[in-house]
This record gives sequence, structure tokens and C-alpha cells, in this order.
Amino acid sequence: MLDHLGQTKRTHNCGELRREHAGQTVTLMGWVNSRRDHGPLLFVHLRDREGITQVVFDAERSADAHAKAKDARGEYVLAITGKCVLREESNFNPAMTTGEIEIIADEIKILNDSRTPPFQIERCDASEDVRLKYRYLDLRRPEMQKNFRLRHQLAFTTRRVLDEHGFFEIETPILTKSTPEGARDYLVPSRTMPGKFFALPQSPQLFKQLLMISGYERYFQIARCFRDEDLRADRQPEFTQIDIEMSFVQPDDVFNVIEPLIVECFKVAGYEAPARPFQRMSYNDAMNRFGSDKPDIRFGMEFIDLTAQFDGSAFPVFADAIKKGSVVKSIVVPGAATWSRKQYDDIIEHAKKFGAGGLAYIQVLEGENKSALTKTMGADGVAKIVEAAGAKVGDSILMMCAKWEKACDVLGEVRLEVGRREKLINEDDNRLLWVTEFPMFEYHEEDKRWYAKHHPFTSPRDEDVEKLSGGDLGSVYAKAYDLVLNGKELGGGSVRIHRSDVQATVFKALGLSDEEAREKFGFFLDALSYGTPPHGGIALGLDRLVMLLAKATSLRDVIAFPKVSTASDMMTDSPSEVAPAQLAELKIKTLV
Ligand code: AMO
Repeated sequence: MLDHLGQTKRTHNCGELRREHAGQTVTLMGWVNSRRDHGPLLFVHLRDREGITQVVFDAERSADAHAKAKDARGEYVLAITGKCVLREESNFNPAMTTGEIEIIADEIKILNDSRTPPFQIERCDASEDVRLKYRYLDLRRPEMQKNFRLRHQLAFTTRRVLDEHGFFEIETPILTKSTPEGARDYLVPSRTMPGKFFALPQSPQLFKQLLMISGYERYFQIARCFRDEDLRADRQPEFTQIDIEMSFVQPDDVFNVIEPLIVECFKVAGYEAPARPFQRMSYNDAMNRFGSDKPDIRFGMEFIDLTAQFDGSAFPVFADAIKKGSVVKSIVVPGAATWSRKQYDDIIEHAKKFGAGGLAYIQVLEGENKSALTKTMGADGVAKIVEAAGAKVGDSILMMCAKWEKACDVLGEVRLEVGRREKLINEDDNRLLWVTEFPMFEYHEEDKRWYAKHHPFTSPRDEDVEKLSGGDLGSVYAKAYDLVLNGKELGGGSVRIHRSDVQATVFKALGLSDEEAREKFGFFLDALSYGTPPHGGIALGLDRLVMLLAKATSLRDVIAFPKVSTASDMMTDSPSEVAPAQLAELKIKTLV
């Protein structure tokens, strides 16, 4: 028989009681985390969001409560009333925050029963598939509740800090027109206009710019975004941005809002406040030194350029490639001189995954440099390379020769993998970095055209505007910036184009005809022509921020109901088929 809650009220939560509460009569409510039956004494660990408290049912004190408690199984929902008592010192449990007290129960209400859960809530060893199917149970785990407490605190802090900086929180539509963030759209068919579709926003980009045109000056939104792209540990099809836009600004003005916000977020998450201003690095520097536009600067092993040393050298593979425009990038790995053949093979395999033909290396040993290069370059030639790289006995030099971007990319991945394998990364460390001055465009060989590296509303640097028509698009740099935390892109933004003539030129440079530009963004081009203030902004990934500050390894641990790699939801079993009548109403015929 289940009991009614009636007028029973909780007096405390399950994480609250301490020795100073001893002697008080209390009422707790929560779930049976575990129970131990010792005959006349029955112990229940009662759990709620705030913690766990031990409740003792003593047959001698209350035979009724004891008899009833015997029915309570794992995850039953109880209300218990009893006396808070100090435990004997020998029974203190330092593993529990409430470990100095226990409740001697006088009354128990069984508010609900529970089927046996598919996994233990506290000591869960179920696979992720099972956890996601029973996500509502998975979310009961204290570890998960901790993540969602942090998520709430970060969202709340964001609202507080941005309000203090004069921002208005304004919502923008979910049913809208395609927005240009470079992913595939999620489409929603219109019933009232058959054959037409809404797109779910990939970001509120155009709307926030329109709000600047409307004179709101400082906008933010904790905005849901939708992108149909391949999932990764740090990418979900449905995610949340802290989306920001400001009028009359240069990049520094945006940094001066974001930095205090991040500092507050760090403090709320229990970390030391990061020093301001955050470190800055241009895109070119980041690529040249770390082979990444989101460098993990928690460890060194910066690139050393050896192009000059191999130019015209006796090592034909590199010398010939350099003649055709390649470069040689290298890293010096401490302690790697004594790596086994297998360790080198593994790292070379890793480089190949990212498109390398191979890696050359020199092992700097006492009295000799071991390398396949010795055959063509001789011991002296190799020694010169070792000297140029500044390698010491015990080190190994890993070298990659390719066109600049590929050499940087591949060696950047190698650097990260070596960093992980050699445990060079202090996981407790937090390093923030602004990466600035991105190239405005990137060229795609597949379809031989230029794409916007950020999005097509990003402003070129003032000095590069001229190059848009007729100049080398590869040499145009943008007023764009990313915020990087521990090698992960936390946010990205830019100063925008506010002049319709510049916007039209950029569309042209991207190969968009006037008609295409009008069809896609006509409303926006019109708006730009009605007195648009200079403006700029940024979006931070809220999910990523929570993930990094919670030191979680996947976004799935910080999104309450996430999707799995097939972009589906295992709990609700969606996406799912719909009734033929629904499709008929939408005038849609499926091909599968
Ligand atoms: P961008 O596309 O760089 O910029 O996105 C900004 C930030 O959003 C997060 N993010 C994601 N998080 C989880 N899953 C995803 N699939 C995902 N995609 C992006 C990242 C990223 O840094 N409108 C521009 C911003 C602007 O220019 O103001 C934009 O959306 O943390």
C-alpha cells in the first residue's frame, strides 16, 4: 500500500544535517539509495539532490516503521520523520557529508515504489547505451546532478554578468530561414504553405545583427542552435550558445565583456580566476607555433621550422618538396630518443590518419644521432639539423614536410597525441587564449571556390577591403576571433560588415550572384541599408563551457537529453515514423 504525501512537509534535505542538528525531529524525503537489513535494525541510505543521509529503523523504537521499511527497495520514494542523533564516534562516516549523524526513524511513508532499475544509481557500471535509454535514471546519479548544478550556475552567472553590463536578453525565432553557419539545416515543413520549409536556426546570427540595426545596442540570448552535422564528443546536433551582439565596437570591446564573464564562470565553478587580459595570438602564429587554430597551450613542444636547413640539402625527399613550395615543421620530443620502434610506428600511423605520407625522425643519443636521414645527409648533416632544432641528448626530433597548412595541421595533431601519450598535459590546468586575425576566406579544392572561414557577415580588416574586388582573397584577413580553452574552441565571433556595399562585394567574392544573395538574404540586405551601426559579437558554446569546467569528456555528460552518434535519441526513440495522415496534411511523400 502506498501512502499519500498529505500535509507531510520536508524540514531538511538529505545533504544538510550536521552534528549541530542532533536532537531535532526532522522529516526527509528522497529515494532509497541502499538498504542493509540487520534483523531488528534496518539501515536505509536516503538520497535526494543534495546528498545522502543514513536512516535507522529500530524495531524496538517503532515496530510499525521498522516493519514498513522492510518493504522499501532500491529507488522507492520515502518520507521519513525521526530524530537526528549524533553517531558514536567509531561509526562516523567521513565519506558522507552527513556522516556524523543519523536519523532514528519514528514514521515512514512509502510515497512510491520502483521497478528494479537496470543499473545501480550510485555505482553505475552500465554501458552508455543503457544509461541513455534510461536517461531519467542516469540523471539521478550524483555525478550527473553535479554537472547540471554547474550548468545552471553558469547560465545564471551569465545572465547576471551580462545584465550588469547592460545587455537585454531577447529571444529569436526557432522556425526561421536558413542561417549561414556552414552545416546542413534541419528543415520543418509548412502545413499552411505546402512545399515550403522552415529551417531551424544554426545560430541566431542574422537576428542578432537585425537587433543591432533596430538599435538595441547590447543583446544576448542563451540560444538553442541546430546543425545537422556529424557528431563528435564535443559536437551535438542540438546545442546551446551564449550568444552576444554589441553596437559601436571593435574586438577589444567584445573581449572586455567576455573576459569578466569567463572569470566569473571560473569562480562559480570553483577555479582560481584566470588572469586578465587573456593571452592573445594571431591565427598565423597559432598555426606556425602549434599547428592549430585552437592550440592547447597547457604544454610546450612548439614547432621549429627547419625549411631553411633542408632547402638544397642532401635529403632529396624534403629538398625537392621545398622547391615545390613545401615547408618542414618539426617538434622536439623530450625523452623520445629511447622510444621503441613500435612507439614510432604508432605515432607515424597517427600522422597518416591526418593525411601525412610519413614522418621523419632523428633520435638524439649519447655520441650518435640515429636517423634514416644519415644515409643521404651524413652524420654531419644530421648533426646540423639537431643543432638547429636545439635538441638535447635523450630528445627526438619529429619532422613533417608538406605544404604549409598541411604540415601545420598534421604536426599539430602529432603534437597533441605525443602530449597525451607522454602525459605532458596537466589536466588540472586551465589555459585561455584569444586567437585573432583569421583569414577571411578558405579555398576548397573539391569545388574550386572560396568559402567564408567564419561566416559571410564577418568584416574584413579595414586595410584589406580593397583586396575584396580583384585582389588575392587568400591574403584578406578578418576581424574575427575565437576563444580557446585547453585546446577546445569555446567561442567564436567577429566584427561584422555594416555597409551594404561591402556586404555585396563579399557575397560576390564568395561566388553568390545578386539573385542568389537576394533570395537567401534579401531581407537582411534591405535592413543593412537603413542605417546600420558598426557592430560585432561572439557566441560561446554553453555546453562546451560546462563540459570543460566540469572536466567532463563528452557533451553528453552536460546535456540533459542528448543525441547519440546517429543523431537520434535512444530514450524517446526519435526520430520516428509519423502517421500517413500527417504526411498527407503536409503534402509530403517519402522516398524510403
Ligand atoms: P560558431 O559556429 O563558431 O559561431 O559557434 C560558436 C560556438 O558554439 C559552439 N558550437 C557547438 N557546440 C556544440 N555542438 C556543436 N555542434 C557546436 N557548434 C558550435 C562552439 C563554438 O565556438 N554565429 C556565430 C557566432 C558569432 O559570429 O557571433 C557562430 O555560431 O563552442
